[in-house]
Amino acid sequence: MKFFVDTANIEEIENLVPTGFVDGVTTNPSLIAKQGDDMAETIKAICSLVSGPVSAEVTATEFPKMLKEGEYLASLAKNVAVKVPLTISGLKTCKALREKGTMVNVTLCFTAAQALLAAKAGATFISPFVGRLDDIGEKGMDLIDDIVVMYENYAFDTEVLVASVRSKQHLIDAAIIGAHVATLPPKVIYELYEHPLTDKGLKTFLDDWAKTGQSILPK
Ligand code: E4P
Repeated sequence: MKFFVDTANIEEIENLVPTGFVDGVTTNPSLIAKQGDDMAETIKAICSLVSGPVSAEVTATEFPKMLKEGEYLASLAKNVAVKVPLTISGLKTCKALREKGTMVNVTLCFTAAQALLAAKAGATFISPFVGRLDDIGEKGMDLIDDIVVMYENYAFDTEVLVASVRSKQHLIDAAIIGAHVATLPPKVIYELYEHPLTDKGLKTFLDDWAKTGQSILPK
């Protein structure tokens, strides 16, 4: 399973890259706005830190302008995955960009039918939003289950990128289902490390070690 980081914050990405599990990055217009920096410069900086796909989202809503924006975003770096919303114009843009060899992440997916359309349009990634479905009382993870089965039935190449992840449990559930990718906010990534027995066990080991008066490195 690949881990993408869901942020436009360069410092957060720099801190996480040395862990070795940053396989890509996803941004969206809200994350770029939250950061407050120039979008093109932000995307270029992220692409220089991470060799995997970096999603950069178009903001036009009509096909011709979406395509122009997508082409521009793709020109910023070789590893840009252009993100388009799951609308008719978005899927037309997806198809056109894929024909030119550009990676495309189709975002704002809330139904299995939408995911099927994205795969037919040749999407590199489909981004179903589990957290936002949970927020309205639906089971976001059921959608992941359906899409994974559906894509396997027809051997679609589109990778299921679980988005709007809010918890460690979301990641575990997505991994059990067999989703290809999860995009994780840094806060969730740090939660993955945590367990009280890890902290407790480490404290005991260090306390016992201190009693020996030894040091591992020669003095
Ligand atoms: C990533 O590609 C999505 O834009 C993001 O995961 C959405 O997350 P949110 O629902 O927490 O805003």
